[in-house]
Amino acid sequence: MKSMDAEQMGSSTYRVWPADPASFSTRRLSPLRHNIDQHPLFQLPALQELANSLMDSGQCRFIKPGTTQGSSFSHDSKHPQGLSIDQVFERIEEPGSWLALYNVQTDPRYQAALQRIVDDLRPVIEPEQPGIFLVTGFIFISAPPSVTPFHIDRENNFWLQLRGRKTMNVWDNTDREVVPAPVVEDFIAGGVQVPYQESFRVRSHEFNTGPGDGVYFPSTSPHMTKTDTSWVAPGDGVSISLGVNFYTSVTRRTARVHQFNRVLRRLGMAPGYPGQSIAADSIKAPMGRWLAAARYRRLGATPPPGSY
Ligand SMILES: [Fe+2]
Repeated sequence: MKSMDAEQMGSSTYRVWPADPASFSTRRLSPLRHNIDQHPLFQLPALQELANSLMDSGQCRFIKPGTTQGSSFSHDSKHPQGLSIDQVFERIEEPGSWLALYNVQTDPRYQAALQRIVDDLRPVIEPEQPGIFLVTGFIFISAPPSVTPFHIDRENNFWLQLRGRKTMNVWDNTDREVVPAPVVEDFIAGGVQVPYQESFRVRSHEFNTGPGDGVYFPSTSPHMTKTDTSWVAPGDGVSISLGVNFYTSVTRRTARVHQFNRVLRRLGMAPGYPGQSIAADSIKAPMGRWLAAARYRRLGATPPPGSY
C-alpha cells in the first residue's frame, strides 16, 4: 500500500522542466530543473527494495574498482567482491561505492513515474520529435570518489541529479572531433563504445549539479560524470542520479541513416551525416532499416531496442 501512495503522489507533484523554456530544444543539450529528488520512489530505502527485485534479472550493474572517466564503460551484474544488495546498501557511503539500476521501468511503479515525467515534457518534445516510445530509467548510486566513464547512448536523456553532488560533462552530439562519424556508426550498428582522450575535456559543457538540477542531452551526446568528496558530510555522502531515457521517430530514423552510412563508408564513400539532407535521409532510412534487419537476422541476434 505504501508504494501505491507514493505512486499516487507522483501523479501531480513531481516533475521536470527546462531551466530556460524559451531556448529549450530536443536537438541540443539544455539545463533542467526538477523536484524528482523529493519523490518517495527515488529515496534510498525504496531503491534498496528495487535493487533487490532487479538483481535476479541482471539489471543491477557494478563497475570494477579503479575505473576512471577514460575507462571503457563496462559493467557486470555481479558485485566485484561478491556482496549482496543489502550489503552493498549497508556500505553505500564507503568511498568508491558504485551501483547502477538498469531498466527500472520493468517495475510498474517506476514505469508509471517515468512515463509521467515524460508525459509532462511532451509539449516541449513532440513539436520537434514526435512519436516518443520506450521510456526507460537508469539510476546511478555512488559514494565519492567515483565516476561514470565517457560514453554515448542511443536514447535522448533527461538526466537528473537527485541526491549529493555530481559533475556532469556533456559534449554536443554534433561534435565530430570528439566522436567522428564512423565511430558513431560503429556504436549504433555494433555497440562499440567510443574512446576518450583527456584533450576532449575542454570541448565539453560542464555542469556542477546538486538535487533539483539536471541536463537534457540528445541521443549520441558524449557524457561522463564524476563525484568528489568536497561536499560530503557525516550521514550525507551518497550521490544519486536518474536518467530518464526515451526514443522518438527522430532517434529511430537517425539510427537507420547511420546504418546505411556505415555501409556507404565501407564502400569508400563519404556520406553526409544524418540531418544534413532531409531528401537523402528519406532514402537512406528505409535502406538502413532493411540492412539492420538483415544484419541481425544473419547474426541470429536481437537488435538493440528502439533503434531500428
Ligand atoms: Fe549514459
